[in-house]
Amino acid sequence: MATKIIVRIIVAILPIISVLCEEVCYDDLGCFSNDPPYDLLPGFPPESPDVVNVRFFLYTRLNRDLWMEVDRKEPESLATSLFNPARKTLIYIHGWNNVGYKSSFAVDLTNALLDAENANVFIIDWTGGSDAPYNQAIQNARITGREVAYFIQFLHNETDIPYSRFHLMGSSLGAHASGFVGENQPGIGRISAFDPAGPFFRGQDPALRLDQTDAEFVDVIHTDAESALRLGLGMLQPMGHADFYPNGGKEQAGCPKNITDHIDDFFRTSGCSHSRAPLLFLDSLDPTTGCELTSYPCSSWENFQAGLCSDCGRRGVCPVMGYYAERSRANGLLYLDTGSVSPYCVLDEA
Ligand SMILES: *[C@@H]1O[C@H](CO)[C@@H](O)[C@H](O)[C@H]1NC(C)=O
Repeated sequence: MATKIIVRIIVAILPIISVLCEEVCYDDLGCFSNDPPYDLLPGFPPESPDVVNVRFFLYTRLNRDLWMEVDRKEPESLATSLFNPARKTLIYIHGWNNVGYKSSFAVDLTNALLDAENANVFIIDWTGGSDAPYNQAIQNARITGREVAYFIQFLHNETDIPYSRFHLMGSSLGAHASGFVGENQPGIGRISAFDPAGPFFRGQDPALRLDQTDAEFVDVIHTDAESALRLGLGMLQPMGHADFYPNGGKEQAGCPKNITDHIDDFFRTSGCSHSRAPLLFLDSLDPTTGCELTSYPCSSWENFQAGLCSDCGRRGVCPVMGYYAERSRANGLLYLDTGSVSPYCVLDEA
């Protein structure tokens, strides 16, 4: 009887031990483990760096239309590029899709960023890893996170550009990939997250998702934080130093409201509300909209709607959402109304 119990215990423990020890190692990128808390993410192991194939396309004001690829394994590609270490470096990481750097959003963002700032803009492509079932893409985002971290290290090592001069932007799963970058490389200046992906990330350990330890300033735009049952693709929980909730953060103006239309939209597009966050950020860079995406510190959307948060207290100046959030000293939970089409800003009701 005792032996039987011991055998049972061993049989029960063995798979636990083997699960606890799971890890996969890839040449210069090192190892990725499935130990807690990482076992809480599905899809282990990540695919190899050759499959994920993270690429870095540099655009500057001198080459807006013709990217230059920079590869940390070929340092000449940096030396012969137009990268300027005296300028800010802005990096965009796309989400779970098969379009990558070719998306019209990436093109629009590049141009808007270069209009606003004489910067180095890198558009990342990781479609080798993101064009996969969602479970797998989540793990592949870990590879992307480490690749981008090493790339930033490479730029720092080669040119002395400080880590604080890097500003990462990420959409959806790309927002969590940016979190993995910060996990691997401390001291990054800023991460702007466009509706970080909710499925498998809601309520997770901060090591597994974007959180405010991932950069010196983390700003998050929440646009599709409906419950999973209502097919929300984002997440409501605050993750940054500044968390913006346009229209409450769950559902956006002009997006399908009833569940049938919502499901239809969900399968046709990546989701109207979910894809609104990047568009709002883009709008924040446009000097011709005629108004700003002014936001109001408030403890909840309900209080904001009840008119309890219509001023910005002692400071008197309300922070703005988007590219200029850091400069406007945005902090905490911030709410605002928007229109349903671009320009999304609404004239200050206050
Ligand atoms: C950058 O330099 C540090 C210190 O020499 C080194 O440990 C690290 O591997 C380098 N990183 C890259 C990506 O070259």
